[in-house]
Amino acid sequence: MRILVTGGTGFIGKALVESLQIAKHAVIVVSRSPDSAATKLPNTEFVSWDGLSQIFAEGVDAVVHLAGETVQGRWNKKKIAEVRDSRMKCTKMLLDAIESAKEPPNVLVSASGIGFYGEGGEELLPETAESGTDYFAALCVDWEAEAARAGSVGCRVVFARFGIVIGEGGGALDAMLLPTQMGIGGPLGSGQQWWSWVGIQDAVGAITYAVHDESINGPMNVVSPNPIRQHDFQRVLSRVLSRPSFMPAPSFALKMVLGTFAQEVLSSKRVIPAKLKNAGYQFSEVELEDVLRVALQRE
Ligand SMILES: NC(=O)c1ccc[n+]([C@@H]2O[C@H](COP(=O)([O-])OP(=O)(O)OC[C@H]3O[C@@H](n4cnc5c(N)ncnc54)[C@H](OP(=O)(O)O)[C@@H]3O)[C@@H](O)[C@H]2O)c1
Repeated sequence: MRILVTGGTGFIGKALVESLQIAKHAVIVVSRSPDSAATKLPNTEFVSWDGLSQIFAEGVDAVVHLAGETVQGRWNKKKIAEVRDSRMKCTKMLLDAIESAKEPPNVLVSASGIGFYGEGGEELLPETAESGTDYFAALCVDWEAEAARAGSVGCRVVFARFGIVIGEGGGALDAMLLPTQMGIGGPLGSGQQWWSWVGIQDAVGAITYAVHDESINGPMNVVSPNPIRQHDFQRVLSRVLSRPSFMPAPSFALKMVLGTFAQEVLSSKRVIPAKLKNAGYQFSEVELEDVLRVALQRE
């Protein structure tokens, strides 16, 4: 297949592109800076955002849309605007190109997040659960609505609602490492909140499954079948790093350090991968400790 990947130079994107290339798909990566991106992914075809129409004119079977400003770092007003605007702008550009293509792609797998569900407490959250009311929930709702436009030209659309993706050299894990390595990685807030995580191999596996399996449509939770309470997550991470995990980080301190993003870290999301399981997807990474050991090379 000829597969277009936006954000292919990022944490999930790089792993996806490498896996698609191993499977002998022709991959084209959309990047803001194709020249410097080529150093991250050698032997890959790149295109800038204004070259999208030409690529669709040449024919594309599937699109995986992952681009957007990173959510890491302190959340001030500027960051909040960049995270939202980059996602809405890229998605609009992509959808404008898909809508005007003579032959639209068969499928679009577009990134979203489990932030869609807002504060979920103890409730199990399959894809049919309602959206939350906070900032991240509103962003995911609008981001998915923009991507959904592809349906009007007969393109199957899947919203990949990623949980915390765990793998080597990226994502949320990097942010958690420093305090834990310093021995001050304890529970965040009460620590009772549920965290829904997924290993990078399964994140890539789920995207690829959705590209191929025509029965998958609409929202798809990309999380392992084993959500875990945050204090248990921290305990496992500390064990893997052979560090203590007793010093709690109070909510007010997190809000000072992380700003708006503290809301994501402190809220509870007990998300289950109902759609992937029903479609027969077999998870390969189900034990958090095993996934952390591989990601942190502590086998
Ligand atoms: N990783 C997770 O745990 C997680 C969880 C939930 C949702 N997600 C979502 O899944 C998607 C992929 O995640 P990721 O962790 O792989 O992201 P990432 O590592 O931050 O990479 C995203 C890519 O987007 C492009 N990008 C960055 N800033 C941009 C901007 N301002 N405007 C346009 N493009 C920009 C970059 O590619 P170029 O520099 O080549 O343009 C970058 O490589 C994101 O949309 C993210 O919100 C991820």
